[in-house]
Amino acid sequence: MLSIPDLIKKKRDGGTLSDEEVKTFIQAITNQTIQDCQTGAMLMAIWQKGMVVKETQTLTREMMSSGEVMSWPEEWAGLVVDKHSTGGVGDKVSLVLAPALAACGCKVPMISGRGLAHTGGTLDKLESIPGFNIHQSAEQIQRILGSVGCCIVGQTETLVPADRVLYALRDATSTVDSLPLITGSIISKKGAESLTALVLDVKFGRAALYKDLESAKELAQSLVSVGNGLGVRTGAVLSCMDGTIGRCVGNSLEVIESLETLKGNGPRDLMELVATLGGLLLKMTGLVSDLSEGRKQISDAVIGGAALSKFQAMMEAQGVAAEAARSLCSTRTDYYRVLRKAEHQTELKTPAEGVVLDVDGLVLAEVLHKLGVGRSKAGEPVNHSVGAELLVSLGQRVGKGASWLRLHYEDPAPSPDQMSKLQKALTLGTDRDAQIQQEHTLVKEVLLPH
Ligand code: URA
Repeated sequence: MLSIPDLIKKKRDGGTLSDEEVKTFIQAITNQTIQDCQTGAMLMAIWQKGMVVKETQTLTREMMSSGEVMSWPEEWAGLVVDKHSTGGVGDKVSLVLAPALAACGCKVPMISGRGLAHTGGTLDKLESIPGFNIHQSAEQIQRILGSVGCCIVGQTETLVPADRVLYALRDATSTVDSLPLITGSIISKKGAESLTALVLDVKFGRAALYKDLESAKELAQSLVSVGNGLGVRTGAVLSCMDGTIGRCVGNSLEVIESLETLKGNGPRDLMELVATLGGLLLKMTGLVSDLSEGRKQISDAVIGGAALSKFQAMMEAQGVAAEAARSLCSTRTDYYRVLRKAEHQTELKTPAEGVVLDVDGLVLAEVLHKLGVGRSKAGEPVNHSVGAELLVSLGQRVGKGASWLRLHYEDPAPSPDQMSKLQKALTLGTDRDAQIQQEHTLVKEVLLPH
């Protein structure tokens, strides 16, 4: 058996690690018999030399086995599903999709994350609801799935401990952006949920982790192939992330937009993503025979209010007071009776008349991140009430001086430079420019399990 330095040397020199060798590396992490500098060196060797599919598959399997692997009652066989997104701006899909899937008969133990760089985190959004507790043990998760059908929680202490170590060291060694390491990190955690089916929303575009479609597709293919190799029916959607999903960005504002969507008033792009991702999962479980039937069932669950009832029950099961949950889910409610509103609002005005050609989601997200929507280091609090509402749609004709963005802020207030950056996120053009501009396609491609 090779020693850890030998394994590092083998990978450094471009070799392919055997199953036993990958296992030795991961077990050394789990047993804490490896030094951080050795793990860092191996991460850099993997970053530089890559891994073949078989190696990535073994890495993922060993990472998954480094901690608890969840198990479910027999009667849920074939019904346990989840979704993972590579991160977006205004990406509130999970808040609508989890209860919609539960309303369609699935069990959804959705394990989500916090904001990463400029992208928002589902857990931060949900924590803007007073009382919402994202910390649930494996037993509590099972109880909530039994009574409600879905929960949205943080990673438990016992799930994939090897990923916690690797993730922190990847951050410290500039090895985050490695295809095998990203694949191992994402799929090991989903594998430990013992899912029947998993759908991945892999973003490409200006505000995505991978900007170009080709590299996003490479990631999607790696995730799909390793997920299926692990026995989870895994599919992926490649979706464009140039602007924002829906009109709201910011934690409590996104909760409000999600609740409005669950009351049947959702923006088209959000509904499209929810229907496609949910439809695919229903198809992969075999609950429906084709994608269009799956899309219809998910849309009906959202528009007909069944998903809203599930969301209300999930909030209560995760610690929100019954009166607050009822108030948030009732029609024509004042959301700010429950959620905190930012102390200040200001509206940005259009500099000229024209047609809205583009709103740069990355610029919006980067400014909002600095105003408190996100955190600059792990463990910092976020300001749940800061955010922005887009008041115009792509293709809309606007006059000069029309309000196009409502900014919700507190301390720090936006600087003149930040206001000018935000203003530059808007591109106006002529009717002719709008005609020439290509039709915007949100979902570019769907990858199904092999
Ligand atoms: N999300 C994860 O959990 N891991 C990664 O490596 C990237 C995104």
